[in-house]
Amino acid sequence: MSQIRQIAAEMVAPGKGVLAADESIGTMDKRLEKAGVEPTEENRRAYRELLAGTPGLSEGASGIILSDETMRQSFADGTPFPDATRAVGVLPGIKVDTGAKPFPGLPGETITEGLDNLPARMAEYAEMGAAFAKWRAVITISSGPDGELPTDAAIRANAHALARYAAACQEAGVVPIVEPEVLMDGSHSLERCAEVTAAVHAAVFRELADLNVDPAGMILKPNMVIEGTEYGRESTPEQVAAAAVEVLKRNLPDDLAGVAFLSGGQSPERATANLAAMQAHETPWPLTFSFGRALVDPALKAWHGESSLVGAGQDALSERVRANAAAVRGEFQPA
Ligand code: 13P
Repeated sequence: MSQIRQIAAEMVAPGKGVLAADESIGTMDKRLEKAGVEPTEENRRAYRELLAGTPGLSEGASGIILSDETMRQSFADGTPFPDATRAVGVLPGIKVDTGAKPFPGLPGETITEGLDNLPARMAEYAEMGAAFAKWRAVITISSGPDGELPTDAAIRANAHALARYAAACQEAGVVPIVEPEVLMDGSHSLERCAEVTAAVHAAVFRELADLNVDPAGMILKPNMVIEGTEYGRESTPEQVAAAAVEVLKRNLPDDLAGVAFLSGGQSPERATANLAAMQAHETPWPLTFSFGRALVDPALKAWHGESSLVGAGQDALSERVRANAAAVRGEFQPA
């Protein structure tokens, strides 16, 4: 088996998911401030050391996604982050996009940037020890003042960028996590989310195939198929799971290494319940988690910048990782 296929299989091994801790400096600072923590480089580092240093993390997490800043930082004992996570059996990954920016010509939509010089940057990250990478494209559903969104043009351009990124990763021997996120923001129905998500997957897998990306050496990180936050009525985990699996089956090749969902702003408990319900369905690929907020929000809240509360923060993260690993194994017990 090729090296990237082996790493991809390891990332979605039974009962394992991927921890997303790759917030950009700006996003991380906002979250620290909200938790009452001064947004400094040292506090961003200390927070990521809390997460990556959580005892037993590798029991439920195969990997951790880091930002460029964290990738270049070290634990307090001087061990660089990528070495420290590998030492405890957690693969280090790197977010390589430079953010979703307003799309010139397409009001209300975004295009994710970061392709310039990417092959050279990928070679550097591989040298630093990155096993995998992440690129997030953002798709908005709306029927507001900007007309009916998303446009086909925004879907097409973002899908093309994801494929160029994925091809650059595989060429560098790094597994791409391909993340086309259809946002939960808005008043749309679950059915509308299903329709848009399927159209996005169709475009993404067409572009990936055109650039000869090996599906067995990549992970898809999709949104769950779910109603908008302003819709007014929450779908059940069974409804979300059935819709998500139906949408995935329309466009994903059978030899894709795995699917690792983002949480997208759902509560930690809801994201876990939805993930648990997915496991009732037969699929050709493992369905696991690559949550950010649904894993780390409780940890940030418990820690809130107090060095004496690092253990409390780590307990909070462990609790969420364990619950999601149990969900993936089909052993989830709702509280
Ligand atoms: P959320 O689970 O908070 O949506 O974050 C996942 C992620 O990696 C976003 O790019």
